[in-house]
Amino acid sequence: MSGTEQKASKPGRTERRDFLYYATAATGTVAAGAAIWPLIDSMNPSADVVSQSTIVVDLTGVAVGSRITVNWAGKPVFIWRRSPETIAEARATPLDDLVDPIDYADENPNNSQDMPALDVNRSADEAGEWLIVIGICTHLGCVPLGQDGSNVGEFGGWFCACHGSQYDRSGRIRKGPAPRNLDIPRYSLGPDLMLTIGA
Ligand code: FES
Repeated sequence: MSGTEQKASKPGRTERRDFLYYATAATGTVAAGAAIWPLIDSMNPSADVVSQSTIVVDLTGVAVGSRITVNWAGKPVFIWRRSPETIAEARATPLDDLVDPIDYADENPNNSQDMPALDVNRSADEAGEWLIVIGICTHLGCVPLGQDGSNVGEFGGWFCACHGSQYDRSGRIRKGPAPRNLDIPRYSLGPDLMLTIGA
């Protein structure tokens, strides 16, 4: 499949802007999902607030296989230290199986250009141990379940209880009404496992 064909299967940018507007407008109607966030926020590790738009998170205490959630700019950010088995499963998924096979550069600002939604392009390190995504369903903005290791859905990632969207081990939409993969925040991850989100 060529890059042009892949883009054609995704909503156009104008439609996408309209969708985002409606998604924002509809936030008040998805209170059930939004109500989940204060609960998982209590799982935050110590995060030093550098500025309102940048946080630094020490990941050294996160065990392999664990998922944590931090609050960045008012949004939940899901951080998953994936096991070798999880990485292998995420990386074995062919692009042709994906609903949204292209991550635009503004959906993953760590890439300088639009990229195929391969796990290798979505994970934070070359080995794929760290996956960092914004925990907001791209349908109507609920916070998907799965961070506690249960309710991970059919594809092992996250399940949005609001309308049934299912995300895989790379945060890619695989089933349900959500049109796009989970967004990825801008970040940098150093070899000392200090994660800076927003810069
Ligand atoms: S908000 Fe509708 S499926 Fe997630």
